[in-house]
Amino acid sequence: MGRRIITTENLEEDSKIESHLRPQCLDDYIGQEKAKQMLKIYIKAAKERNEPLDHVLFYGPPGLGKTTLAGIIANEMGVNIKVTSGPAIEKPGEIAAVLNNLQEGDILFVDEIHRLNRQVEEVLYPAMEDFAIDIMIGKGSSARSIRLDLPKFTLVGATTRAGMLTAPLRDRFGVVNRLEFYSAEELKTIIIRSAHVLGVEIDEKGALELARRSRGTPRLANRLLKRVRDFAQVKYDGVITKEVSEYALDLLDVDKYGLDHVDRNILLTMIQKFAGGPVGLETLAASIGEDSGTIEDVYEPYLLKNGFIQRTPRGRVVTELAYEHLGISNENV
Ligand code: ADE
Repeated sequence: MGRRIITTENLEEDSKIESHLRPQCLDDYIGQEKAKQMLKIYIKAAKERNEPLDHVLFYGPPGLGKTTLAGIIANEMGVNIKVTSGPAIEKPGEIAAVLNNLQEGDILFVDEIHRLNRQVEEVLYPAMEDFAIDIMIGKGSSARSIRLDLPKFTLVGATTRAGMLTAPLRDRFGVVNRLEFYSAEELKTIIIRSAHVLGVEIDEKGALELARRSRGTPRLANRLLKRVRDFAQVKYDGVITKEVSEYALDLLDVDKYGLDHVDRNILLTMIQKFAGGPVGLETLAASIGEDSGTIEDVYEPYLLKNGFIQRTPRGRVVTELAYEHLGISNENV
């Protein structure tokens, strides 16, 4: 079993809350079939050769399992994992210290890896490629660099924005996995598993309703499950049925498609203030008072995937489905 060593305080709050719901091995992991099958092979091959796994990059919207998969890789490889994040490492010396403290075969998990600054990133290049770092000693004309060998380790990087990684960093990952939104059936299975872990009773229809409204995202599914459990306990007889799920999720302002008030505000603003678009990301962000990065990373991928908006070279536009869903006639605008 891999030992978990947390090196930064900067883990997402949700990750902490939900860590006990996380599967520990690939066989318990539901969904992401393609990534899972490939990882199984790479892990088996690396273990047979007695080598560390090649560096792995996971990318995709938040909450789809990047951190979970990093933990599973460590467990399956039987090695330690050190967890840190792009914004937590500010200086080259800090990443050098983290690397130098790794043991042979360890996993270094860097969340939000696109937020590493350039100087820190440059330490990673030789570390990833040659398992060595170059350290500058002395100043001015007597300055020289010495090469320090590192243990062979595996870097597992996670990002919501693959496009923001520099090419030299991206190219140093041997395995690149894009994580996809989960189907309602997959989420239903995850919810039933989580309910079992939490010791809460749920029926199939209750789980499916919750799954449908969880925006294809296990993190959200598990969070909503906990809230719906409270309603089941206090207002019903403790069992999560379709009726309980519907009642609780309606109150929580999560609609039939899993859209919340921010999603609906995005669509409404596009329709009412920009005649359905096209509208640029920054303009839209300013009008609804949200950070443009959050819209791009968190909200837009699901709205795009489900056909509520489209991206065009001139900006975002809403689709007919968005008008229909919000009950607004397209002709009146
Ligand atoms: N909990 C969160 N994500 C999960 C997944 N993909 N499979 C099983 N349980 C999970």
